Amino acid sequence: MNEELRQNADGCYGQAEQRAKDYFHSLSQKLTQKDYVPGLIHDIQTWKQDHLHHSLLNRFTRGKSNANSRGYYHYIQWLDYIGKLDQYLDRSISYIFMRDLGKDLNFPDTQHRIQNAVNGLKDYLKQADHQSELFSMAGLYRWAQKEGVESSLFWLIDKLKTVSKQIPKEMDAEEAKRKLIKLIAGVIMHQIEELGNQVSAEERARKLDIAIRLGYSYGLTYPFIDDLLDANILSDQEEERYSDIIRTTLVSGSVPDLGEWKGENKDLMQFVHAELREAFTYIKKHQRLETRTSFFEQAYVFFHSQEVDRDKDLSYAHYSNEELYIPVIIKSSSSRLIVRSVISAPEDEGFDRRTFYYGIYNQLADDFADMFDDMKEGRVTPYTYFLKYHDQRKDLINPFELYWTVIFNLIHNVYDSDPKTCEVILNRAINGLKRFKERMGVQMYNELMNLFTANISKLNKFVQKMVRKAEDVDFFDKLLRDHILTGLKNERIERQEFLDTIENVREQINELLSIAKTNSVMSEPISEAANYSLEGGGKRLRPIITWVMGVHEYGLEKTAIAPLLKSLEYMHNASLIFDDLPSQDDAAIRRGRRTLHEVYNTAIAELTGLFLTQKAVEEQTTLDAFDAKTVLSLIQYSSRITAEMCKGQAMDLGSKGKPLTLEQLNMMSYYKTGMAFEAALIMPAILAHVEEDEMNALKTFAYHAGIAFQIKDDLLDVEGNLIILGKPVGQDEENQNTTFVSILGREGARKAMWEHYCFASDALERIPKNTAFMKHLLDYLINRDH
Ligand code: IPE
Ligand code: IPE
Ligand code: MG
Ligand code: MG
Ligand code: MG
Repeated sequence: MNEELRQNADGCYGQAEQRAKDYFHSLSQKLTQKDYVPGLIHDIQTWKQDHLHHSLLNRFTRGKSNANSRGYYHYIQWLDYIGKLDQYLDRSISYIFMRDLGKDLNFPDTQHRIQNAVNGLKDYLKQADHQSELFSMAGLYRWAQKEGVESSLFWLIDKLKTVSKQIPKEMDAEEAKRKLIKLIAGVIMHQIEELGNQVSAEERARKLDIAIRLGYSYGLTYPFIDDLLDANILSDQEEERYSDIIRTTLVSGSVPDLGEWKGENKDLMQFVHAELREAFTYIKKHQRLETRTSFFEQAYVFFHSQEVDRDKDLSYAHYSNEELYIPVIIKSSSSRLIVRSVISAPEDEGFDRRTFYYGIYNQLADDFADMFDDMKEGRVTPYTYFLKYHDQRKDLINPFELYWTVIFNLIHNVYDSDPKTCEVILNRAINGLKRFKERMGVQMYNELMNLFTANISKLNKFVQKMVRKAEDVDFFDKLLRDHILTGLKNERIERQEFLDTIENVREQINELLSIAKTNSVMSEPISEAANYSLEGGGKRLRPIITWVMGVHEYGLEKTAIAPLLKSLEYMHNASLIFDDLPSQDDAAIRRGRRTLHEVYNTAIAELTGLFLTQKAVEEQTTLDAFDAKTVLSLIQYSSRITAEMCKGQAMDLGSKGKPLTLEQLNMMSYYKTGMAFEAALIMPAILAHVEEDEMNALKTFAYHAGIAFQIKDDLLDVEGNLIILGKPVGQDEENQNTTFVSILGREGARKAMWEHYCFASDALERIPKNTAFMKHLLDYLINRDH
């Protein structure tokens, strides 16, 4: 490495270290002199006026509604009902402006922007259609649409998919994704703040697009640098080699080659290196020349402080207070300081100053909450170290005392005794302790408090009284975090259930499909041909939908609906046989093997198609567990659908090379594809005599899900892979078929697919059943690769 550059980098770290040292010494001095104690007691006494309630009403309402037990939506409604939603959102947003955006709450402009954000969030939260899904994929897509950044979202979705596939199993892929999303959101927030309200929509979209990509590029460093080096995946030599690459990059401004990497981590490292290189190049390209150097310097300081911090060993008993706290001060502030320079925002001295002092406050709060996890992992944090060595090292600074010292210093020296800041920070502190106490149980909590507050027992008395009695100290970001974590956990379980269900049901359906040969005096290839076509590896989506809805949601007997399942797959198979004919799409491969007309001939294929549609009706007439009238109306419906699908195929063939409108495209897809999905949902509903409203919601869902499915099919025809897909790619172009891709382009097709995804999601809200299966089905339809 170039010696001069190296020295410059070390010089920067030295400066950061000096600044941190000065801060640390002023804090430890305050801590020893203890003059923050009376000041804080005074602050708490003022604060409690608004947080201790004695009225009967409050005694009555207290604890009536708990955010976790009843879901966030009811909690928000409850807050609104008792008139506390505004202050709740106000303190939450204020906190985020202070923590994440480094704002001074005392500025009129900041107050104004906070008020706007509160109003916006309040409107959003009160809309009933977000009840179950706060910040769902559909919601996210709608946001991207409003901002005109759909393409950036697609890019990000693809990136996140690749990343979660590559995350080694020793690391938590969901957690990595959550962190990445949080960091990207942080960068976007900064960008939105920087933009203000004066820019045009185009400029805003352009900047947000860049912010999303920058956010990802920067966010990537958390799972792939910090977490990877933290996890026990790389060997010591590998870690060292990898750290060297990063160091060289930050010092020299360009990424060195990975070189040869041997052993089991080769693929991982090649992926990480390529992805980080792309990210780094992107950030570099978007840096303004004036800020480029300072960006690299900051990044180096950030990286190096983490290294210094990580290298500590909990079994070593002789770290000085400085060694413990200085890297913490540097890393916690530089991780936030750097965000502004990621987006090349102009320098802001106030932001720098506040953010620098703020970092350790946040870090100490986090380390407090995580102290037992950290202990288990053997990590050195101020808390784990103190827990382990406080008996033998009387010189060690008590991190909990330092925490209160920092709070006092922030309120009075950094934020000039601003009442709002005092209010928000004390809320947060009491809330943190309340949450911790709940998690630990009273006994454990009290023991810990005795240990940590031995020197500040007077202050502690006030604090603990607040922990017991104060109200209105909770925060929306905590609620959101809990909600998202439970959401992600449930989502993972549900998705696995969904995948298990479809696999299991598919096997059962495959058992049913075969058609018995008739013993005739002459050979007849039709049953054999039908079986050939049925034996290919189809996904069986249509009968699976019917099975799950029929059995799980409508309580129908498996055996009773078996004929219906067969009929659906027979109809579908017939449609594929016709679709592949030389007179239609002229396809040679289907479900990974030769198409029927290739194996036999066109005449046999046509006859088999017809044969299967008739077999489908025959099966339906054997639904003898249901009354005749119901079965008749089912057959009527099913025959109509089959007939309409023929029209759809004809529309498709008739539109070759023609510029259809979006409306026409939707119509064609609904007829040729959507209707079969509708049938899969509606037929079991007919048998179960489902109410008309519900029927209509099912139809709306099927309409949009079906079209989304066809759009994905069109996309796979250009993006897919023959082996995975089991059918040729590029067929549509070759046939000059008019598809969503040919009319709208890939990007446009993807947008249209997401539009339908959102509408289908909306329809789910109106179906009074457990819709988890349908929700996952919808995700599956647009995310599948075959
Ligand atoms: C393909 O349907 C035909 C279309 C409607 C696009 P599927 O993708 O469900 O085909 P299989 O049954 O799994 O082969
Ligand atoms: C087929 O659409 C619609 C049917 C109902 C068969 P496509 O022609 O796009 O289906 P694939 O791509 O051949 O499966
Ligand atoms: Mg076709
Ligand atoms: Mg086709
Ligand atoms: Mg196709």
